[in-house]
Amino acid sequence: MGRNSRHERIRRNPLTIARQAVTISATLSGIQMMQAATRSTERCESELGNKLSPHPARYSVGMMALTASVLETTASVLDPMAGAGGIFELQQHGHTGTITASDIEPPTTWANGDNRVVVADARALPHANHSFSAVVTSPPYGNRMADKLLLDGTRRHTYANAAGRMLADGSAAAMQWSDNYRSTMSRIYSEIARVVVPGGLVVVWVKDHIRSGERQAVAAWTMNQLQQHGELVDLLAVGVPSMKHGANSELRLTAEIGLVLKTNAN
Ligand SMILES: C[S@@+](CC[C@H](N)C(=O)[O-])C[C@H]1O[C@@H](n2cnc3c(N)ncnc32)[C@H](O)[C@@H]1O
Repeated sequence: MGRNSRHERIRRNPLTIARQAVTISATLSGIQMMQAATRSTERCESELGNKLSPHPARYSVGMMALTASVLETTASVLDPMAGAGGIFELQQHGHTGTITASDIEPPTTWANGDNRVVVADARALPHANHSFSAVVTSPPYGNRMADKLLLDGTRRHTYANAAGRMLADGSAAAMQWSDNYRSTMSRIYSEIARVVVPGGLVVVWVKDHIRSGERQAVAAWTMNQLQQHGELVDLLAVGVPSMKHGANSELRLTAEIGLVLKTNAN
């Protein structure tokens, strides 16, 4: 089934999409699944010390293939939270349009940083309204990866530990799931809606997590935020293996969700 007909099918069935939306945190039934292994993001013992570590939360294997399947190949794409630059993998899936990548941290922070990623704060993007035909991104998830810098030899998988320093002011990667996280991300989603063309596509990869034994509905909250700027037209998912160490490791959830939004026409 072609990508347009799939979106058309969903638009003709608003009840179906609403039901999927409500149950997004509870079930992956009816959405596209791809079992995949995450890239190895664990920092090796030999990388401790002064050596750079890889970005700790790159796009998982399968995400860019699925994203390419819903994008026009010629779309001008922005990733405003681009990390080490995983967004450029779209080119390996036939994408020929321009790709602009920015992050609040410079790519030199990471051993695998792509120097095409420029520094910009997604809360105030340096682009005119309607500059891109699509935005593709994955925010920090407000989970324990936002824990503080702890260079104490433990294998805690956090952004700050991987960076080996405090994160930039305003980085959502240092924010736990909280009002602070939500107000920051809400502002970023408004910026994303501002810089994409009316009727453009926004693809946001996100994931729930467990805190104090309770599932935190990050994906559903993100979906609600995005729906303030348009219509949800598709849901994607990749399965990821849980990590074997860290807080709540036994409870980690196994799927990341790709929310696909078509922005309002005006
Ligand atoms: C899940 S990671 C993205 C990784 C990326 N997809 C990759 O494959 O390398 C989320 C990124 O959001 C960035 N970030 C957090 N707050 C930001 C902000 N206010 N402006 C821009 N980037 C921000 C973090 O620095 C982090 O690199």
